Amino acid sequence: MHVFRSTKSFRRWRNSQVSHVGTIGFVPTMGALHEGHRSLIRHAHRMCDIVIVSLFINPLQFGPSEDLNRYPSQPHADQRLCRQEGVTAMFLPSHEEVYPTGFQTSVTVSHLTSRWEGECRPTHFRGVATVVTKLLNVVQPNVIFFGQKDYQQTLVITQLVKDLNLDVKVIMCPTRRESDGLAYSSRNQLLSSGLRKKAPLLYQALMTGEKAIHSGERSSVRILTLMKRTLLNTPPISIDYLAICRSKNLEPVTYIEDKIVMLGAIRLGKVRLIDNLLVRVPHTR
Ligand code: PAJ
Repeated sequence: MHVFRSTKSFRRWRNSQVSHVGTIGFVPTMGALHEGHRSLIRHAHRMCDIVIVSLFINPLQFGPSEDLNRYPSQPHADQRLCRQEGVTAMFLPSHEEVYPTGFQTSVTVSHLTSRWEGECRPTHFRGVATVVTKLLNVVQPNVIFFGQKDYQQTLVITQLVKDLNLDVKVIMCPTRRESDGLAYSSRNQLLSSGLRKKAPLLYQALMTGEKAIHSGERSSVRILTLMKRTLLNTPPISIDYLAICRSKNLEPVTYIEDKIVMLGAIRLGKVRLIDNLLVRVPHTR
C-alpha cells in the first residue's frame, strides 16, 4: 500500500496511474476506522479497480465547543486495517498541507444545510463541503463512497457534486451496526461503559417509529411522540432533534408517505450520536 502525506507526492503517483488503471474509488475518512469504514472500502473494491482512502481530522468541520481535541486518533491501526483490506493508497495530509497559512476559501451548500445537523452545528457542513471539494480535486476519483449513517452529509455532497459539475459518482452505502443495533462510529470509543449500554436507545427509538409506520400510523407528530418516549425516560440522554423528513430533500413531513427518512441526534453526556432509518411507505390514501 502506498502512503502519501503531501499533495505533491500523491499527485505525482496519481498522474502515473492515469494510463493503466481503470476506475478509481475513494473513501474519505477522519480515521479511527471501524466496521462502517471497512464496509465502504469493500463496496469501493467491488465497484472500482483501485481504492484510495484519505485520513484527515478536519478542524474546519468542528465548532469551537465541539470534540476536536478528544476526537480519537489511531493512525497505525488505521493503516493496518487499510492494508488488510487491500487499499491501494492512503492519503494522510497534515493540517498545513490542507490549510496552509493564508487559506481563505470555503464551499457552502446553502438550503440543504439549514436544518438538522446544520442547525445544531452551524459551521459543520461548510467544513465538510470545503474539505471534500479539496480532496476530490487532489484524488480525482471516478466514484466516491459515503455512509448512510451520515445521511444529511451524503445528500450535501451529492448536491455539491451536481451544483459544481464535479465529474464523480457518489455512492451511499448502508449503515453498519454493532450486534445491539448501535451504528458504528469513531465517537463510540468516547462512551463510558455505562453510557455505551444506553447508546442503542437511539436506534431503538428509530425502530419504534418504523414499527408504528408499518402498523399503519401516518401522523408524524404521533410517531415522534412515541419515539421521544423511548429516549426521554433515560437520563442523561438529551435529544438534539428527532425528525421525519422527505428522504430526497430533508424537508419535514406531517403526513407520512412515499420515501421518508427518520433522523435522530442525541447527547449522552459529552458524546453526540446521530443515526437514521430510511422507510419506504406503501400508498394507502
Ligand atoms: P468519518 O466520520 O470518518 O466517516 C467517513 C465515512 O464513513 C462517512 O461517509 C460516513 O458516513 C461513513 N460511516 C461512518 N460510520 C458508518 C457506519 N456505521 N456505517 C457505514 N458508514 C459509516 O464523515 C466523515 O468522516 C467526514 O465528515 C469526512 C466526509 C471524511 C470529511 O471530513
